[in-house]
Amino acid sequence: METLFAVCVPGLEFLIGRELEGLGLSPSAPGPGSQAGEVEFQGSLQDLYRANLHLRCADRVLVRLGQFYASAFPELRRKAGRLPWEKYLGPGRPVAFRVDCRTSRLYHEGAVAERLAGAIADRLGTPPAVVKVQESADTDLPQLIFARLENNLCAIGVDSSGAPMHRRGYRLVSAKAPLRETLACAIVMASEWDAASPLLDPFCGSGTIAIEAALLARKIPPGLSRPFAFMRWPGFNSGSWEALLADARKGIAPTTSKIMASDRDAGAILAAESNAARAGVAESVEFSRKAVSAIEPPPVPGWVVTNPPYGVRLSKSNDLRNLYAQLGKILAAKCAGWRVTMLCNTMQLIRSTGLRFEPGVSTMNGGLRVRLWTCPHVSGRSRRHPAAKMTPPAPPSFSRADSRSNVQ
Ligand SMILES: C[S@@+](CC[C@H](N)C(=O)[O-])C[C@H]1O[C@@H](n2cnc3c(N)ncnc32)[C@H](O)[C@@H]1O
Repeated sequence: METLFAVCVPGLEFLIGRELEGLGLSPSAPGPGSQAGEVEFQGSLQDLYRANLHLRCADRVLVRLGQFYASAFPELRRKAGRLPWEKYLGPGRPVAFRVDCRTSRLYHEGAVAERLAGAIADRLGTPPAVVKVQESADTDLPQLIFARLENNLCAIGVDSSGAPMHRRGYRLVSAKAPLRETLACAIVMASEWDAASPLLDPFCGSGTIAIEAALLARKIPPGLSRPFAFMRWPGFNSGSWEALLADARKGIAPTTSKIMASDRDAGAILAAESNAARAGVAESVEFSRKAVSAIEPPPVPGWVVTNPPYGVRLSKSNDLRNLYAQLGKILAAKCAGWRVTMLCNTMQLIRSTGLRFEPGVSTMNGGLRVRLWTCPHVSGRSRRHPAAKMTPPAPPSFSRADSRSNVQ
């Protein structure tokens, strides 16, 4: 068994916890040593393959290489040199370090990385080529090593994912302000969509929310068509990976739900359609070019899950307030009884809808703090209501007895 970590944008940990449970893996309960944006779990190497293949909201999965106290550089190099680097580094494999030092005697992150490279050389006999990570690159990535020093405790993790997991491989074209695929999926999962009722995104841009909803409903694993860093580890078991892929392909379900996505921008719809085709869900989503005022939701209740435009400086955003007010009226007129989940960065815009929204989880998107807002039941008449308080909700637990879990 290895100690594994799913890394995500802070705020999404509870969804990763539910996903892990859906895979039969047990996330450790958050404790005093837990870091925001990390969910720890125990598992075999095959579990690590499964986590990479199936987790929809995580950015990467790390395996803990070791943990030890070090308050001087020679001690760091000596102790790090005892770790089994050979499990993860084949001959000539370049490495990149991400070091984070807090409240520790060793605080120079570059010097810590240097000593870790020295420790690898001590253990493997040859010094590794140390390179910088190109964030935009998808191939020829070095083996990424994470080191965190906190109160002189050094924890070293090896990345098993390679390119961040939001890079599913389907979104080659994007419209304005696209959501990361992982966050788009998190919004769908947090909306508690039952994967059978209609789902509508009337501000779909490059289609990410609708595509992620279709992948989720059809049980198409997000990692099905992309490489991972663990495939270059010396002990990679390709037979076991192929068996997992074959199993996952067998589990793919036909389209059953009605997923609709629209945007007023013709270029966005073209991008969304080609992204959906690459994701293998072209038949699962109905895309159409139309303004939000022209949406035609089916008469049965469903879910609106969306990421409308929002601004940085609200004082200059009268247009946005009008758009949200218009959205509220349209939803009241056309989506009575529907449930709405939206991502937005300010309560003032949410209030402009005149619908009764409840605050949900808070997270980050493109450097901005954002929050999920849910209106559990759109009533047929919109009205202005007193501001929902911006108090943070109780932290969601990993599992909810009453959750209509749609995670496989
Ligand atoms: C924040 S972006 C959505 C990004 C999308 N979630 C993605 O991942 O690509 C907002 C979208 O709303 C669209 N939009 C703005 N006003 C609209 C309106 N009145 N009717 C329909 N779409 C509109 C914009 O064209 C833009 O694509």
